[in-house]
Amino acid sequence: MIQKPKGTYDVYGNYGKNLLYLRDLIQTLMEKYNYQYVRTPMFESSELYHRGVGETTDIVSKETYDFIDRGDRNMTLRPEGTAGVVRSFIENKMYGEASQPIKCWYYGTMYRYERPQSGRFREFCQFGVEVFGTSDPLADAEVISIPVNLYKLLGLKGIKVNINTLGDIESRKKYRETLLEYFKPYLNCLCEDCQKRYETNPLRILDCKIDKDLDIMKNAPKISECLNDVSKKHFAKVKEYLSAMDIDYEINENLVRGLDYYTHTVFEVEANVEGFGSQNVLCGGGRYDSLVETIGGPSTCGVGFATGIERLMTALEYENKLPISNNSLDIYVIPMEENQKNYSLKITNILRMNGFNCDVDTMNRNLKSNFKQADRLNCKYIIIIGEEELNNKILTIKNNVTKEEIKISEEELIEFFDQNIASEN
Ligand code: HAM
Repeated sequence: MIQKPKGTYDVYGNYGKNLLYLRDLIQTLMEKYNYQYVRTPMFESSELYHRGVGETTDIVSKETYDFIDRGDRNMTLRPEGTAGVVRSFIENKMYGEASQPIKCWYYGTMYRYERPQSGRFREFCQFGVEVFGTSDPLADAEVISIPVNLYKLLGLKGIKVNINTLGDIESRKKYRETLLEYFKPYLNCLCEDCQKRYETNPLRILDCKIDKDLDIMKNAPKISECLNDVSKKHFAKVKEYLSAMDIDYEINENLVRGLDYYTHTVFEVEANVEGFGSQNVLCGGGRYDSLVETIGGPSTCGVGFATGIERLMTALEYENKLPISNNSLDIYVIPMEENQKNYSLKITNILRMNGFNCDVDTMNRNLKSNFKQADRLNCKYIIIIGEEELNNKILTIKNNVTKEEIKISEEELIEFFDQNIASEN
């Protein structure tokens, strides 16, 4: 039998129902925040990610799905959303629009050739936002508040917000030099990856999972020692704004993130639930004030984040918050015989077009089996259509909760359900 590719999964049944509900909730939340929806291609030229995400990151050096298309172009399935949205911002000249800043959100699949494990897939889905054109730390705080509020709306309790600053270009440069000097005598003590990181991106040594318990890591100089005044002020404001929104956070000076583009604020939100597993980071993001320019656009500030939808769903499962969708069937229509199917279908169609969730038997079940099916579908009302109903256009409606039956004429049908169902929905 042909099986799905390693590291992928199928969406169906209740998982699909919950997933759609979550996407709707995200859309509603984004409307409340006044963010616009963007969609960019699932593949882009490979160069975009080499320039945008960074040559030396694990994502670009080890994890991209690259292919050469039939026109001999080097293409890459998107491993993340930011680079593509930045490309779109530049290509569509959004920086020239009258209304600034540009605040956008996206939702879609990403592809990374990683070792599959719980919470880590090769095809996974992200909801993310990117804000362009403002250097105000208020935007950093607003972006951090989005996943925090989403998780709160979904009822998650065990979440922990970790924040840090990498400072502006000047501070980052100074910190890089300080780290190079510090780690130089200890190079042999570091793992093979960190020895490479020493050459390419020494900041990333700090979030190494292998070397994290070494004393030299614990005693490494902190970014706070290298921040200039502008960077200190920016970070202080972010913290102030988070407190204004009653968002609790912890400062983690080893948080540097795995992508090269960040400046100033970086953050991650963890699911702080026992037994959740090692992939407990629900989302990550931060400010990237040079990325637009690196990709070929005019100098423009940016800040954003992305959350993994699968990890979010797992967190909801762990905290017993599933199902999140309470979308049950309003009405189930049962034709008694073959010659009542036309009329049953007509009634079903009218109900659907009037906004009710309605289904009709297509399995030619007997009445008893149809009642069972109505229960399986958790439906509120059943309409039974037999010879008499067809001839008189008077319908038998059964309340599937109280089991009461009433007769209602076809003309009164919508009014009845409007009064009895629409008010509940
Ligand atoms: P990231 O930290 O690479 O950041 O990914 C963000 C989130 O996507 C992670 O916290 C995790 O929940 C989820 N994720 C990442 N890889 C996988 C995987 N293999 N399987 C399942 N979930 C995964 C970014 O992607 C940045 N573009 C975020 C950003 C937006 N920064 C600024 N703007």
